[in-house]
Amino acid sequence: MAALTFQSLKSAHVWLFLCVLAFSPSVWGRPATFLQDFQVTWSDAHIKQIDGGRAIQLILDQNSGCGFASKSKYLFGRVSMKIKLVPGDSAGTVTAFYMNSDTDAVRDELDFEFLGNRTGQPYTVQTNVYAHGKGDREQRVNLWFDPAADFHTYSIMWNHHHVVFSVDDVPIRVYKNNEAKGLPYPKFQPMGVFSTLWEADDWATRGGLEKIDWRKAPFYAYYKDFDIEGCAVPGSGACASNPSNWWEGSAYQQLSAVEARSYRWVRTNHMIYDYCTDKSRYPVTPPECVAGI
Ligand SMILES: *[C@@H]1O[C@H](CO)[C@@H](O)[C@H](O)[C@H]1NC(C)=O
Repeated sequence: MAALTFQSLKSAHVWLFLCVLAFSPSVWGRPATFLQDFQVTWSDAHIKQIDGGRAIQLILDQNSGCGFASKSKYLFGRVSMKIKLVPGDSAGTVTAFYMNSDTDAVRDELDFEFLGNRTGQPYTVQTNVYAHGKGDREQRVNLWFDPAADFHTYSIMWNHHHVVFSVDDVPIRVYKNNEAKGLPYPKFQPMGVFSTLWEADDWATRGGLEKIDWRKAPFYAYYKDFDIEGCAVPGSGACASNPSNWWEGSAYQQLSAVEARSYRWVRTNHMIYDYCTDKSRYPVTPPECVAGI
């Protein structure tokens, strides 16, 4: 009898503990509903909520593309979402997922841009980093899978040490904090999280040679498992400099051996453009490329 009472008491505690976990979203990873963290910023009619708001469909047709943005800005953290890109003939379409300080003069920005292609041709992921107002740091990787066949996880991890762009936990781009060498690093301005689907056939596919085929419209991309873990601004002023934030932990201060190996694999086998080695554009190698990116 006593044992039984103790047992039920214990399960009550476990239950309470689980409830506390479930309602501590700032601490625990949580795929959130779209409207919890985001709002539509461009063409309501072209963003449809599905699966009870846990996923969305973005629509591009001849009338409009569309876009959404986080309600808050964040200073450091990690944002990730699962995206299924426009299938088939997606030439001329661009799906973007990025963080941006939304400040004109001294812009900080971390970009993922998915450039569509003709059916059967590889999707290209372009990344770019703006630090203290200067961008022009494009790199391009052709994905090693069909990103329109299924959902894949795309994430931006940003802490005091580096910015890491990952695809299914494989790092495809690292921008290190080389402030000690006098190089700019985004760390003073909070950034919002943005996404858009639009037509950019003047430049996106084969440099603009491949035009969008409107007979294939509407074009659809899908998003789910929205996860932002970071220091919301405005919020607790101490958050961004708190060294106990998990994304500042030692495991996130540099790539692990496994990550470093997959990063080399991507760069060796899938990178098709790197501004660092574009001599016609940069006769003098940009300093951050020399310092190690
Ligand atoms: C599209 O496919 C062509 C041909 O395979 C390839 O050269 C190009 O890198 C791909 N991506 C873009 C964005 O043009």
